[in-house]
Amino acid sequence: MRTVFWDYDRHELKMIDQRLLPERLEVASFREHRSVAQAITDMVVRGAPAIGAAAAFGLALAARESEASSTQGLFADLQAAASLLRSARPTAVNLAWALERVLKHIADFAGPVEEMRQAVLDEAQRIADEDVEINKRMARHGATLIEDGDTVIHHCNTGALATVDWGTALGVIRMAHEQGKRVHVLVDETRPRLQGARLTAWELSQYGIPYEIISDNAAGYFLRTGQAQKVFFGADRVAANGDVANKIGTYMLALAAHDNNVPAYSVVPTSTIDLSLTHGGLIPIEERSPDEVLELRLMGRRVAPEGARARNPAFDVTPHRLITAIVTENGIVYPPFDTNLPNVVRPIS
Ligand code: MRU
Repeated sequence: MRTVFWDYDRHELKMIDQRLLPERLEVASFREHRSVAQAITDMVVRGAPAIGAAAAFGLALAARESEASSTQGLFADLQAAASLLRSARPTAVNLAWALERVLKHIADFAGPVEEMRQAVLDEAQRIADEDVEINKRMARHGATLIEDGDTVIHHCNTGALATVDWGTALGVIRMAHEQGKRVHVLVDETRPRLQGARLTAWELSQYGIPYEIISDNAAGYFLRTGQAQKVFFGADRVAANGDVANKIGTYMLALAAHDNNVPAYSVVPTSTIDLSLTHGGLIPIEERSPDEVLELRLMGRRVAPEGARARNPAFDVTPHRLITAIVTENGIVYPPFDTNLPNVVRPIS
């Protein structure tokens, strides 16, 4: 089952509710673009490519909701919907990329307004279908980096759930496993929302890939003691110089990998590469509610004292000097990234 898909019988968007996993696998339905924007903010759907596809389908819903009788009127309504969807989460550039792609596709639409509504849905569907195909290409490139018997550390969730299907970094691991390589995964639990312990562990169980969950602060121990040969993670945005914004904790993981000469790979579709930003310091970093940190419970009891305050940046930026290579659907990119990344990125046509 795809993480994000259009129900052609009911004319609605369906998405796996990732907040409920691994306890329950439930699919939520959406009929309004506003509720899709809210679902992205609330992380019903999460992961950079998945939220891009969700937003594109959100525009298809907005096209159905709009009462405009002219293509200009519909375009204006779609622009308003896109601006709401774009603001749902700031860091993953796939969100803005997917919205821009749909809007560009219909910007000069000449034809009946009903056909324009259909064109919006068609483009969203293409984005979703291409995501799966791109992920498999990325996985085949990335799997060449994994050797039989490797133990890899993986951060956050970058699997089928973070995309439309298959996944980015976890897709690489899955491909290596399907090719018959023995690969063991140390799964960073990924505080505070525990995408690793909840979602990555659930996915690895489904695929039959051996894994162990580790607390985030154990990664340095495994790297220092030679118990992990590679580090894999995704990205929410890559700047033109190769700086990588990804789930909070990636920077510390990459630092520890670098200090121990362990290669660290970021696996991204080219839609995650933002060549308009010269360096990672320009990437907007989402700061989420302190409650996500404070609500941790241990043995049924809240850990933090009442009245405690917290900070909760959801992403950090790993400087490019700590990244061994960036795996894309168009090949593996090595430093110097500022020279080599533009060779794999194709502009939206
Ligand atoms: O806050 P999330 O769960 O949306 O963050 C997701 C990540 O950081 C992933 O690692 C990233 O999107 C790349 S994987 C497709």
